Amino acid sequence: MLNEKLSWRYATKKMDPSRPVSEDKVAQIVEAIQMAPTSSGVQPFELFVVKNPEIRAQLREAAYDQSQLTDGSHVLVFAAWDNYSEERLDAVLDHNIAERGENAGLRDYYTKLKSMYLPRDAGTNHDHAARQAYIALGFALAVAAELEVDSTPMEGFDADRFDEILGLKEKGLHAVLTLPLGYRQADADWLLPMKKIRKPLDELVTEIA
Ligand SMILES: Cc1cc2nc3c(=O)[nH]c(=O)nc-3n(C[C@H](O)[C@H](O)[C@H](O)COP(=O)(O)O)c2cc1C
Repeated sequence: MLNEKLSWRYATKKMDPSRPVSEDKVAQIVEAIQMAPTSSGVQPFELFVVKNPEIRAQLREAAYDQSQLTDGSHVLVFAAWDNYSEERLDAVLDHNIAERGENAGLRDYYTKLKSMYLPRDAGTNHDHAARQAYIALGFALAVAAELEVDSTPMEGFDADRFDEILGLKEKGLHAVLTLPLGYRQADADWLLPMKKIRKPLDELVTEIA
């Protein structure tokens, strides 16, 4: 059951540099990211899959020297749109129409969406786009766990530095999350033996019957 795998997973602190994740497993995790739902189906982010060791070393430096970035074999970087634009939203609409055929209702919907998004400031729109990337992060975490691939969700990095290293600004993107993938080095990870801590259900959940 997936819930058992969710208890198995943890934010891995020490990955084994001698155990790379297979391309097949990485592809399944990437597919989960592709399949994650987003607000109005816009998918306002891009994913960078970094394998190159030199680039990963630079990312590690920009992530307060967190070792998972070089000990893991693949580093996923989620980069959200810096803003919504007419062009970007039209491209989503055109894709929908190309796949499903002409649809006046859909055109109206996107006209309304543009009238809502485009007057807003870039920061508000970027934050909205970033929230969509977080949903995809959740899907990636769950599928990685299902495959018994270890991962560490991270927002502890210098996002501007990540942008520079990966050339994101020129693409109208801003790094929001990173997820190194690898395998736990069980004898060297201080977190592994520790109890998993979660809020008790009665604090988390209010049932309204
Ligand atoms: C959005 C997000 C950002 C995080 N950033 C970091 C990080 O930069 N470095 C790190 O070691 N762990 C990071 N974590 C891991 C959390 O500390 C961890 O998920 C939380 O304490 C729960 O523990 P568990 O994932 O081991 O169950 C992050 C988690 C999330 C969801």
